[in-house]
Amino acid sequence: MKQAPRKYANYIPIRELHSKERQLFPFQVYAELRENTPVRYDEHRECWDVFRYEDVQYVLKNPKLFSSERNRTSSSMLTTDPPKHKQLRDLVNQAFTPKAIEALAPRIQQITDELLAPHLSNGKINLIDDLATPLPVIVIAELIGVPATDRREFKHWSDVLVKGARDDSEEAFQELVQEKQRNMQELYTYFAAILEQRRAEPQEDLISLLLAAEIEGQQLTTEEVINFCILLLAAGNETTTNLIANAVRILSEQPELQLELREHPDRVASAVEETLRYYPPIVAIGRVARETVELNGQTIQAGDQVISWVGAANRDAAQFEHADKFVTDRKPNRHMGFGFGIHFCLGAPLARLEARVVLHTLLQRIEHIQLVSETELEPIQSAFVFGVKEYPVQFNA
Ligand code: HEM
Repeated sequence: MKQAPRKYANYIPIRELHSKERQLFPFQVYAELRENTPVRYDEHRECWDVFRYEDVQYVLKNPKLFSSERNRTSSSMLTTDPPKHKQLRDLVNQAFTPKAIEALAPRIQQITDELLAPHLSNGKINLIDDLATPLPVIVIAELIGVPATDRREFKHWSDVLVKGARDDSEEAFQELVQEKQRNMQELYTYFAAILEQRRAEPQEDLISLLLAAEIEGQQLTTEEVINFCILLLAAGNETTTNLIANAVRILSEQPELQLELREHPDRVASAVEETLRYYPPIVAIGRVARETVELNGQTIQAGDQVISWVGAANRDAAQFEHADKFVTDRKPNRHMGFGFGIHFCLGAPLARLEARVVLHTLLQRIEHIQLVSETELEPIQSAFVFGVKEYPVQFNA
């Protein structure tokens, strides 16, 4: 298999999305690409882009043709193929069940209330820094079993895991690679020590459960448990932050939705799903072709990178009626915001729960949520992530 091109790792956005305005609102560009070049090769980034729902779904549901083993530096379930993938996923599934996640609801509510409380009397909150960022980090730290005193370091490690290069230069790329390597070493050392403690003295946390998990005599190795904990930080924190922030962004851009959801709180869960379709935190998912394959009239060669644009597929009128409209109670809603197929997001129940709790709480406690006027939105610099860096809102308490 060909080595992954450096450019892919460096998160260069597709050329049509280089401007800030387009990154803040890429959906018109997606519509043009879906229409004009549904499957195309990008010489600059050295990869294929796939934009239509049907084609994206085809890529994601065929791991035999499109491999996830694109990044061999750390092996976790996200970057493994069957049969190894199933073995890893089944083992962690024992600890990460929807029932176990649902039991976290009261604690998530408590953390949300605590984070929101100091801001209620000000009528203002920096939604991302004060609520949407700390909430998932605290929840995942508690779930894994990280001592509260280590939270700050934990947050830093988590940030570096998903950090992109500051620009396109080789220098910035090398700097980032080194920072990430250091970060990985620190994480390994940190988790190795916790694992040792939990082996000696199991507790009621995810690490202890993972160490005990067993299927047909198979257990996870120390390295696999550590890789999984690191994966949870990398896959779960920034994504959930952006889901919450993107949902609130929609509510302030379309304020009539605030009234509708306050009147119909039973639609909050489906509004969270619709956010994952309409403003998905992850807009693109990478694979590598295992063999030469035809897709929508194009020939993809074995070893080629293939980027599936779920952000574009989620607005495909061939799949969704009124695709550009936010419909709070859309049914069915087969969005691919959590991916599709065997790698479908393991953390989906947790992300959904956190977003639901936050939206319910905001709608109950405050009114007229709007972006603080004259705020200039800054898109997150990543080709795969859709979100903004800051989202200060004002409201009536
Ligand atoms: C996989 C999105 C939250 C853990 C994925 C995938 C997507 C995704 C698109 C599929 C990647 C692929 O096919 O290559 C999201 C979004 C989230 C979110 C949008 C928040 C709104 C979380 C959380 C956790 C988590 C909270 C854990 C605490 C995982 C894991 C995988 C995964 C472990 C790999 C599953 C596998 O390979 O079988 N996620 N995720 N995610 N996600 Fe999430």
